[in-house]
Amino acid sequence: MALLIRGGRIVTATDDYVADIFCAAETITRIEEGLETADLGVNPEELEIIDASGRYVFPGFIDPHVHIHLPFMGTHAADDYESASRAALAGGTTTLIEMICPGPNDEPWEAFELWRSKAKGISAVDFTFHMSVVRFEPEIREQFSRIVAAGVPSFKVFLAYKGALDLSDADLFAAMKFARELGVIVTAHCENAAVIDAMQQDLLAQGKTGPEWHGPSRPPVVEASGVHHICSFAALTRAHVYTVHTSCEEAVREALAARQRGVDVWIEAVAPHLVLDESYPSRGEFEGAKYVMSPPLRARKNQEILWNRLSTRAISTIGTDHAPFRFADQKTMGRDAFTKIPNGIPTLQERIDLVHTYGVNAGQISLQTMVDACSAQPAQIFGLYPRKGTIQLGSDADLVVYDPAYRGVFSQGTSHSRADYSAYEGWERIGRPAIVTVRGEIQAFDGEFVGTMGRGVFLEREPTH
Ligand code: URP
Ligand code: ZN
Ligand code: ZN
Repeated sequence: MALLIRGGRIVTATDDYVADIFCAAETITRIEEGLETADLGVNPEELEIIDASGRYVFPGFIDPHVHIHLPFMGTHAADDYESASRAALAGGTTTLIEMICPGPNDEPWEAFELWRSKAKGISAVDFTFHMSVVRFEPEIREQFSRIVAAGVPSFKVFLAYKGALDLSDADLFAAMKFARELGVIVTAHCENAAVIDAMQQDLLAQGKTGPEWHGPSRPPVVEASGVHHICSFAALTRAHVYTVHTSCEEAVREALAARQRGVDVWIEAVAPHLVLDESYPSRGEFEGAKYVMSPPLRARKNQEILWNRLSTRAISTIGTDHAPFRFADQKTMGRDAFTKIPNGIPTLQERIDLVHTYGVNAGQISLQTMVDACSAQPAQIFGLYPRKGTIQLGSDADLVVYDPAYRGVFSQGTSHSRADYSAYEGWERIGRPAIVTVRGEIQAFDGEFVGTMGRGVFLEREPTH
């Protein structure tokens, strides 16, 4: 079926105009004003026409940081590619970049194959990965070369999660030198694992066991120190780095100072840090556990800084760090000690509407910045542009017809994630994706999945750094 989207306001990172978009098959083939159906060369019965007047038409959104298959902290994240696809598409996201997070004894190539098998033939959105390096002995390096050659030219390193995912400095340095040689960007969770572990033990010893102590166990200086650390290694190795879920003024300042010194560093913010603050993990009845993520939710003043640095484009991207754990039987694993609460907040479905409501409508960022941060920059930084991330001839027909007049609320009841709560329950929501296409086929309509499971493809990328 060919697709004609008529009269929408096309908003990309660089353009804002009204025109029609025609997609003969999976890609965008014409963008013009007043396209006549008779001129399209398709049988009218094989043409789907969408009236987008009064609506925005965005390039499909890309989430550069999600966890779907995630064995973590003694349990597994609650979603799979079926629920995650529904959530992504309902929220206007058409491409996922998932973190492959193997355990410290796993073989990297096997992990890559396992994670790919969880998505292939199941996902309804297109997908690719960042490959976590949790160990880096000489004998396994060849496996990382193969993973890069197979289309995954981005690494993930954790400075946090002692004994689980964290990498020694010797391995970190070697991995970054290797990344530089291969032209691979290194994405990094920047918090010092040893310091956090010591502070957590101190707090527990004082009987401070509730979720409200998660934040104090990893204050902003711990994250800033992690950013300084990765940027120092980047200066030494000349590797390109990307600080994931950068949450606070101190951490952003470290990254920008490194950039001033010539380090190639990109900064990611994630939606929870933009809209939730440190008061949430203190909610009574253990409800605070729903809001435990790392780095932790910060003092409210940091939100202003993050929005501001997004508006100046110092922060490049907005992801989610979607890491869904059920409250009933997973978050409650940490009733006796906050250190056992699985870290993460589900936000995959909500990201774009949160950014539209609390970023664009609140006057924090422009519509074009929203598109840049949530689509164009993830595509550019991670080697997907211009196939993804924009609306131009030859790009994949991943399109979001967005209704800015919609008014509603965020709620678990309308969420497709398998988490059993919404961190944004009852919050005002302005705007929603009305129609979402992936490579020319309609996959979601007014928040409901109407597409084909398994249609998503693995996006093989080339090293660009
Ligand atoms: O709390 C978080 N962020 N959970 C997911 C794992 C990670 O650190 O990204
Ligand atoms: Zn992380
Ligand atoms: Zn993450």
